[in-house]
Amino acid sequence: MSYEIKCVKCGGLSTDILNYKCRCGAPLEVHVKVEFDKAKIRRGDYNVWRYKTFFPYISEGDIVSLGEGWTPTVKFNENLYFKLDFLSPTGSFKDRGSAVLISAIQKHIRKVGGYISEDSSGNSGASIAAYASRVGLKAKIFVPADVSGQKFNQIRFYGCEIVKVEGERCKATEEACKPEKGKFYVGHVHHPIYRDGIRSLAYEIAEQFGWELPSRIYLPVASGTLLLGVAEGLEHLSRSGVIKNFPTIVACQTKQFSPLYHRLKNLPYTPPVKITSVADALISGNPPCLQLMADKMRMMEGESEIVDESQIYGGFIELARKGFFVEPSSAVAYACYKKQIENRTASKREKAVIILTGTGLKTKPSTLNHFYELCVRAPR
Ligand SMILES: Cc1ncc(COP(=O)(O)O)c(C=O)c1O
Ligand SMILES: [Zn+2]
Repeated sequence: MSYEIKCVKCGGLSTDILNYKCRCGAPLEVHVKVEFDKAKIRRGDYNVWRYKTFFPYISEGDIVSLGEGWTPTVKFNENLYFKLDFLSPTGSFKDRGSAVLISAIQKHIRKVGGYISEDSSGNSGASIAAYASRVGLKAKIFVPADVSGQKFNQIRFYGCEIVKVEGERCKATEEACKPEKGKFYVGHVHHPIYRDGIRSLAYEIAEQFGWELPSRIYLPVASGTLLLGVAEGLEHLSRSGVIKNFPTIVACQTKQFSPLYHRLKNLPYTPPVKITSVADALISGNPPCLQLMADKMRMMEGESEIVDESQIYGGFIELARKGFFVEPSSAVAYACYKKQIENRTASKREKAVIILTGTGLKTKPSTLNHFYELCVRAPR
């Protein structure tokens, strides 16, 4: 077998690609047994399928693509680069996970006349909905009843079924997971194949830097699909002897939602009751893969950083005024970089790349108006 899907806790193997967690309840992880070989890159494909060989569980004829991946890496200043994943088909890096997941499972769902279910009113919901529509797969997206905004509109227009769930956010998850005939839960927060699709991001960064990675990679963290996917991709490259230097991954969170930061520092953490953070894609108080993230970060000797709301605003404005209009949640990573330069945890002499994960065009108008007011009061 060229891959296996294994439980991170009990080590049990999962033989069904549709399983989203182990029988013991712990997360599953994909282990690819194909070595990364530069000669096997499909150099004519300018999307994630450039690396198809390294996703051996997908059959050629099942590939679904909206043109995800191979996003530009641009130089911002002497040693700082941005990976523009907000230029993905649905406006966020999530398309890497959705493309790989839907490609891997669509025939299995179709065979039994089933449908997929997901709980997200954000970028993941929009992305899963788009890829399901592209292949004509029925999808139900469970969202909190009071949802609104650009991401929700995207979900609506991609044409899946929307199920509004009253009560707290966790109620939408409960409903989405509830077993029903023909229903297959593919929640991005849990599904190992979704997370595995993010590996392509690490391959691209490595290839775009000529296989000599920058010293530091900054990325925003909520449920950890981005962090874990990039980590797995880098480990794969390293195991295969393709990269020599292993970068320091900096996991970036907000002060309000920083469970990973606290876990790594062995500090207690309780999510706030009143949520006021503008980084709405990073609102995740107790992600299911938290321990897995902490274990990986310790093993890779990664760093974690947090920023407050004024630092997020500062990062957002600075990026916008240099032409990069990204979500406040993406600006968190830039704000963390700036903080580390200021407090000398990092140096401007080190090469760094920041993953800009989501487009600013989906930001809530109320947040943009608030930021605009602040700009007018404190013009540059
Ligand atoms: C724009 C953006 N950036 C970062 C993240 C965090 O990603 P993850 O949940 O994989 O940690 C999200 C998650 O929704 C997102 O939408
Ligand atoms: Zn298990």
